Amino acid sequence: MATLDKIVSLAKRRGFIYPGSEIYGGLGGTWDYGPLGVLLKNNIKHAFWHRVVNTREDVVGIDAAILMNPKVWEASGHVQAFTDPLVECKVCHERLRADQDEEIKAHESSHKGQKVQWTEPRKFNLLVEAKLGVVEDQKSKVYLRGEITQGVHVNFKNVLDSTRMQIPFGVGQIGKAFRNEITPGNFTFRSREFEQMELQYYTEPEKKKADKWYEYWKEQRMKWYITLGMNKSKLRFRQHEEFERAHYAKDAWDIEYDSPFGWKEFEGIHNRGDWDLSQHQKYSGQDMSYFDQKTGKKYIPYIIETSGGVDRAALFFLIDAYSEEKNRVVLKLSPELSPIKVAVFPLLANKPELVKCAREVYGLLSTVHSLLPVDWDDRGNIGKRYFAQDEIGTPYCITIDFDTLKDNTVTIRDRDTTKQERVKINTLAATLTKKLQ
Ligand code: GAP
Repeated sequence: MATLDKIVSLAKRRGFIYPGSEIYGGLGGTWDYGPLGVLLKNNIKHAFWHRVVNTREDVVGIDAAILMNPKVWEASGHVQAFTDPLVECKVCHERLRADQDEEIKAHESSHKGQKVQWTEPRKFNLLVEAKLGVVEDQKSKVYLRGEITQGVHVNFKNVLDSTRMQIPFGVGQIGKAFRNEITPGNFTFRSREFEQMELQYYTEPEKKKADKWYEYWKEQRMKWYITLGMNKSKLRFRQHEEFERAHYAKDAWDIEYDSPFGWKEFEGIHNRGDWDLSQHQKYSGQDMSYFDQKTGKKYIPYIIETSGGVDRAALFFLIDAYSEEKNRVVLKLSPELSPIKVAVFPLLANKPELVKCAREVYGLLSTVHSLLPVDWDDRGNIGKRYFAQDEIGTPYCITIDFDTLKDNTVTIRDRDTTKQERVKINTLAATLTKKLQ
């Protein structure tokens, strides 16, 4: 079982995730993705876009601005209701979330038997504010979006008018969101800047029809994580109690992962009813209704939303894939998510004929789109190179040895089984492409 410490250390050491602004002492709740982290995150986003947008007739995508007219956030209810309950320890003045039992308990025990008194909970708004404008004292307040969602709903009419979409249909989006979290923590799990991958699916405003899509998308999203290799027994659905539900939600279910710090949400699936479009109609004065040409009915659609965190997914994919074996650490990531697909090694770096041939193989594989990125390594001994690739989840390593010079064959070494097979160089790209499918 991966501990969080081991994942944090691997992530830093191998270039997945670094603390944000580290040389200046960091900035709480921010993280930078390194060379391997950006590849992993891009693979997750690509897999989402492929499954939820590109392969569906009933879904299109958009990429809305992070900065929006502040009225958007008044209409959406976030200015008023996007809050967490904040309490302050009267002993040391640390501020925590009143609804995070484990953190409250850990804090109380840190005072070692001393009686800890808490202030009454007060509502703390999570929206991050910024100022826009060129005249110093006339800058206007804007918000960094607290969810990527509203960029889709304010464009509901634009999408209808510029495409042939008809209800039921969805709009997918991936992008950054910002929250002034009271207690960021558990590595990237609760950050102040993070990415979301969402689908907003518009349905007829009838409970039965919306519920059908709700069940459908719950199942689809759970399947997506399992297809990408997440251990089924570590996943579960949990329905929100009424008091937990966000102000916009009629119903809310989380997909949770059994993490080293307990069962934790990393995707929320919500029935938002007609909340968002009705509110935008009210606040903007624009008609946000849909006219159904088949039935002649005009209505404000319901919205079924799937809202996943890219960073939380990346963290849980890493934790889930982490495995310690006798003499190696291996990340058993699905090849679709592995940052590096193939690594090429000359058996010995000081034999120019081996290096020359390995460079040719590396060049050959680097032209094949489905195998990218391909890594090159000629440092240390071959065993160490295999282990270095295992630790970052590279599914296949190719070694060019002295037999290669005689018969044009190379070895393909499999990350999970460590078994090796020999194949001809002229069939290598096709063999690897097939294996990676
Ligand atoms: N549009 C709906 C929405 O934003 P949410 O449940 O507040 O719903 C959806 O957030 C997902 O966004 C969460 O399941 C989580 O994966 C991610 N997320 C939310 N807050 C986060 C944070 N502070 N740090 C990292 N990810 C976060």
